[in-house]
Amino acid sequence: MDYIIDGGKRLGGEISVYGAKNCALALLGATVLTNDTVVLQNCPQIEDVNNMLRLLKAMGKKVQRKSDTVQIFGGLCTTSAPWQYATLIRGSALILGSTLARYHSIDLPLPGGCAIGARPMDIHLLGLEAMGVTVEETPDSLHCFGIPKGTNYNLRFASVGATENLLCASVLAKGESVFTNCATEPEVVALEQMLVAMGADIQGIGTTTLVINGVDRLHGAVFNVIPDRIVAATYLAATVATCGDVTITNCRPAHLTAFIDLLRPHFAIIEYEDAIRLTVEKQPSSYGNVTTAPYPLFPTDMQSLLMSLAAFSNGGQTTICEKLFENRLQHNAQELAKMGAHIDVKDDFAKVYGRGLHGATVQAHDLRGGAGLVVAALNAEGRSRVRDVEHVNRGYSNLAQNLVSIGAKITVID
Ligand code: EPZ
Repeated sequence: MDYIIDGGKRLGGEISVYGAKNCALALLGATVLTNDTVVLQNCPQIEDVNNMLRLLKAMGKKVQRKSDTVQIFGGLCTTSAPWQYATLIRGSALILGSTLARYHSIDLPLPGGCAIGARPMDIHLLGLEAMGVTVEETPDSLHCFGIPKGTNYNLRFASVGATENLLCASVLAKGESVFTNCATEPEVVALEQMLVAMGADIQGIGTTTLVINGVDRLHGAVFNVIPDRIVAATYLAATVATCGDVTITNCRPAHLTAFIDLLRPHFAIIEYEDAIRLTVEKQPSSYGNVTTAPYPLFPTDMQSLLMSLAAFSNGGQTTICEKLFENRLQHNAQELAKMGAHIDVKDDFAKVYGRGLHGATVQAHDLRGGAGLVVAALNAEGRSRVRDVEHVNRGYSNLAQNLVSIGAKITVID
C-alpha cells in the first residue's frame, strides 16, 4: 500500500487522537495474569494490536472487540506462543513476564531485531533469572521456566519492555521485589496503574524505583488506554509541515513536553489538559541540538518526525543524536535526500541542513520512519509517493484519512 501526497496543503481544524499502541500492547500482555475479564477502553484499531489479540486468542484467551473496547478473559491453553503471530510484532515479548508469573513456563519465538536495531532482551532475561527463572535461549526462541520469586534487581538501562515484563513477573511472585532504574514512560505508568486496579501491590508508581509485594491472585478490571503521544506529535509535525492551524483533541500534552518544548519558541501554542492548539506561520531556521533519551527527555519514537521538520526548516542546522536504537537515523536520511534534503549521518549523529523539499518517491522502512516521510511529503513542493505504508498502519489508525479530514491531499493506493 502506498500514499500519493500532494504537498503544500495547509492543515486546519480539529483532529482527535486515539489510544496508544505501546500502552495497549503492554496492557494486553498483562491480561494473562488473570482469567477474569479485563476491559480495555480506547484500545486502538491498528495492526499491531490486532496481531497481539490474534496471539492471545491462539494461546487460549477469549477476546471480544466492539470498536475501541476490547474484552479479554479466560486462561491460556498453551504457554507456547505460536510462531506465526509471535514473530509479527515486538509486542509479543510482553507476554513473557505475565505468562511466567501465572504458568511458570513459556516458549517464545524471539521477535528478533527489526529495521531500527538488534533489540536484544538481556535486561529482561537477567531480571527473570534474578527471580529464579531458568532461561534457555536459542538463536530464534526463548524457553523459560520456574516460579518467579521476589528479588532486588537494577536495570542496567531503563528499558521500557524489561520494566513491563519484570513488573508482570513480580506481581504474583512470593515476597518483595525492588526494581531500580525502571522506565517511567506514560505507557509503563499506565501498566502499573492497571495492575494495581487488578489487585497488585506496587509502590513507587511513576518513579524509577518500583517495590512490589506479590499477591496470590489478580482480578479483572476496566481500564482506559492512554492517548498515543507519538500520534499527537505526528499531528503536530504535520501542522508545522503545512504552516497549519490545528487543534489536537483527546491527547495529553503533559506526555509529550519534550517535543512541544522544541516547537514552543517558534509557534503559537495553546495547551489544555487534553488538547493542544498549534498555529504555524513560517518554518524556523533550526531546532538546535537534540539527543534522544528515556522519558521524559526527547523520545526516540519522535526522532524521525524531528528529522523531517529539520529537513525543511529555513536554512539553519539541526543536529540529532539517536542514543537508543543503533539503526534509526540512516534510512530516513537517505529517503529524505530523494526529496532534496541535506542530512549528514555518522554513527548515532545526524546533521540536518534545512532547505525546501520537492516531491519524490520514498520508501517507508519502519513504523516511525514512515510517519516521518509522510510529514516531509506534506511539506514538499509537488507530489510524493510513500511506498509500503503497511509499516505505518502497524501503529497508526487511518493516518491518511485523518490527515485528509484536516485538509491534506493524500490518495491511498492499495
Ligand atoms: C519500546 O520498545 C517501544 N515499543 C518502542 O517503540 C520505543 O522506541 C522504545 O520502547 C523506547 O521508548 C513498545 O512499547 C512495544 P527498550 P522496547 O527496551 O521496550 C536496548 C514503536 O515504534 N535494550 O526501552 O523494545 C534496546 O536495544 C517502538 O512504537 C537492551 O539492550 O525498548 C534499545 O537500544 C519502536 N536490552 C534500548 O535498550 C534489553 O533487554 C531501548 O529499548 C532491552 C532493551
